[in-house]
Amino acid sequence: MDDRHAIEPGLASLLELARGAAANSYSPYSRFRVGAALRLTNGEIVTGTNVENVSYGLTICAERSALVRAVAEFGPEIRVEAVAVANLNEAASPPCGACRQVLSEFTGPEVPVIFPGPDGARTMAFGELLPMAFEMKGK
Ligand code: THU
Repeated sequence: MDDRHAIEPGLASLLELARGAAANSYSPYSRFRVGAALRLTNGEIVTGTNVENVSYGLTICAERSALVRAVAEFGPEIRVEAVAVANLNEAASPPCGACRQVLSEFTGPEVPVIFPGPDGARTMAFGELLPMAFEMKGK
């Protein structure tokens, strides 16, 4: 699903919402402003942004902040059907490994993820980004 040229219209608008969310970033330490937008199977769209902390490791990424907000608003049964990530720094920023693992709980391998790649917006299937998520059998 790697298509760097034609962005599906639904993903393009999700990406715009992610960009908008990045404007609210609290990132005084890195100055790296990230936004994420999740489209849920219930039709809702939920955005998030990165929130840093002076104790750097406590920072939460935009993707996870969107996800926790989605669960808080719509409950534990949510499923994510599309993910968009943007930043205002004109840099590549694929979702970090921690965010991929957390998203894996609420999404599936075919779900498109659009994010800033090294040469513009890039779309990949979630299963390509995280081919072997940790799972706990019998959870
Ligand atoms: N960040 C995200 O929001 N998402 C990612 O997937 C990677 C990194 C944030 C965390 C931190 O506030 C800043 O970007 C620099 O690492």
